[in-house]
Amino acid sequence: MTDADIKKGLAGVVVDYTAVSKVNPDTNSLLYRGYPVQELAATQPVEAVAYLLWYGELPSDDQLAEFVAEERAHRGLDENVKQAIDLLPLEAHPMDIVRTAVSVFGASDPAAFDISRESDLGKARRLFAKLPAIVAYDQRRRRGQEPVEPRDDLDYAHNFLWMTFGEEADPIVAAAFSVSMILYAEHSFNASTFTARVITSTMADLYSAVVGAIGALKGPLHGGANEAVMHTLDEIGGAANVGPWLDEALAEKRKIMGFGHRVYKKGDSRVPTMKAALATLVDHYDARDLADLYNELESEFVARKGIYPNLDYPSGPAYHLMGFDTLTFTPLFVAARVVGWTAHIIEQTASNALIRPLSAYNGPDERHIEGYVADA
Ligand code: SDX
Repeated sequence: MTDADIKKGLAGVVVDYTAVSKVNPDTNSLLYRGYPVQELAATQPVEAVAYLLWYGELPSDDQLAEFVAEERAHRGLDENVKQAIDLLPLEAHPMDIVRTAVSVFGASDPAAFDISRESDLGKARRLFAKLPAIVAYDQRRRRGQEPVEPRDDLDYAHNFLWMTFGEEADPIVAAAFSVSMILYAEHSFNASTFTARVITSTMADLYSAVVGAIGALKGPLHGGANEAVMHTLDEIGGAANVGPWLDEALAEKRKIMGFGHRVYKKGDSRVPTMKAALATLVDHYDARDLADLYNELESEFVARKGIYPNLDYPSGPAYHLMGFDTLTFTPLFVAARVVGWTAHIIEQTASNALIRPLSAYNGPDERHIEGYVADA
């Protein structure tokens, strides 16, 4: 065994097939079940893209109507989940709230250990319907606001914004929010999805796999980056400070949040679509200063390091302009990515292969306890 045999971080290692999505750094593209994500974001509601990722085909009108009716029927926050959240400190990170809520939801499901495809598809559809209420309840609780009941006359995106802000969203905001949820829904074997697959590979239940995935997504090298992007922009303050700030940050060898990617090395295929959605919000809210800061940091960092923005870079300021608390940004990523996670959980269960890699030992040579004599 030599260092060359070790694939640290599994970088560049292909560990299995997946039919859910194709991330192609050579063409800088992303396909969901064969469809370019840009086409889906431009033409489909979030509900139809979720259906596509789970079932492999876009829904017919009847299939979509049936799924939408079920999603709207399951939107409310369960009393036991609400009570569990209320036991947690207001200062608890929203990702811990979401992780706990999914745990309670799963612990309350008598069919949790039924890992059949039909049972897990039902769990996936209910989690998709429930997560907006969990995310909205947590933000309103932190703000000292009463919860807002879901409305079954609004689509997924409009209802998510309604439950969070207690008012009907402007169509421009709802459209940008839909685009973000579609772009965040799925991205092959990223760290949180692969975490879900590892847990699923032991025949553990879907909820355990989703809770594990939420834990993985929380880190700033992964999903937590969209929150960290906003902290960075707040820290810099304005476009004029970008140069000096970058001088110091790079001297300290800091990772600049929202830039770089393990797979995409010439730019993240999703960024142009999210940047266009951000631009509509910048115009809508006349957020020129934020746009100048955002553009200056990108152009300066790309010029200096040749490292390009990932999806978290435009998503952070977009969620900020929509009115979400910065701490709510990564839970929004959870609400979207639960679709990809559960599609992969179902695929992993069907492949039925325990994930257990090898390791190369570099600890102390074998040694023994002084005076120990093994039984004859
Ligand atoms: C997501 O995998 C997915 O698909 C994830 C995701 C999804 O949809 O699921 O796309 C979502 O997680 C996007 C990434 C969000 N994370 C961030 O924005 C955090 C900042 N980015 C970096 O930490 C980094 O770019 C990673 C972790 C995302 C990727 O790192 P890699 O591929 O392991 O590359 P690396 O860390 O080995 O970097 C190579 C070089 C290093 O320099 P040297 O040590 O060789 O001198 O590039 C540098 C790095 O220091 N570098 C950065 C940088 N990203 C890479 N330097 C400063 N800031 C950065 N952001």
